[in-house]
Amino acid sequence: MTDDEILLKIEELVNSDAPLDQVLRRAVEMIKQSRDYYDWVGIYLLEGDVLVLHNYIGEPTEHTRIPVGVGVCGTAVATRSNQIIGDVTKLDNYLACSPRTRSEIVVLIRRGDEIFGQIDIDSDRAGAFDARDEAMLSRAADLLARRFK
Ligand code: SME
Repeated sequence: MTDDEILLKIEELVNSDAPLDQVLRRAVEMIKQSRDYYDWVGIYLLEGDVLVLHNYIGEPTEHTRIPVGVGVCGTAVATRSNQIIGDVTKLDNYLACSPRTRSEIVVLIRRGDEIFGQIDIDSDRAGAFDARDEAMLSRAADLLARRFK
């Protein structure tokens, strides 16, 4: 599927009467299938000052609750900016999910200043993510943001 086709499917899902829980799970499935180098795909939701893992596909992780400011995920919220990490082994503030992970992207689910959560993706390939991934995932995140108040 092309990016446009995937995004159209996510848009249909967001506009459907499916509950939020199902929308977020289906979105993770579709995003996981969109690139062969997306080895772990999950959505965290922001609850106060903590990111709570909603659902994921990939290896189990112990990082189901991440405080704002901690790790790549918490840094995205603290700095209110998407994160692309080409080589996670060079980071000090990093929470390892799998020892095979080499790169990571975090794209915020937000509307204006309000952050609802994030799409987090790990790849076993170094330098796997670039502006095209961020563009596609930002469009997906903007669609998902419509489901939050
Ligand atoms: N690597 C993330 C933690 C989430 S796991 O990758 C699933 C981080 O540093 O915040």
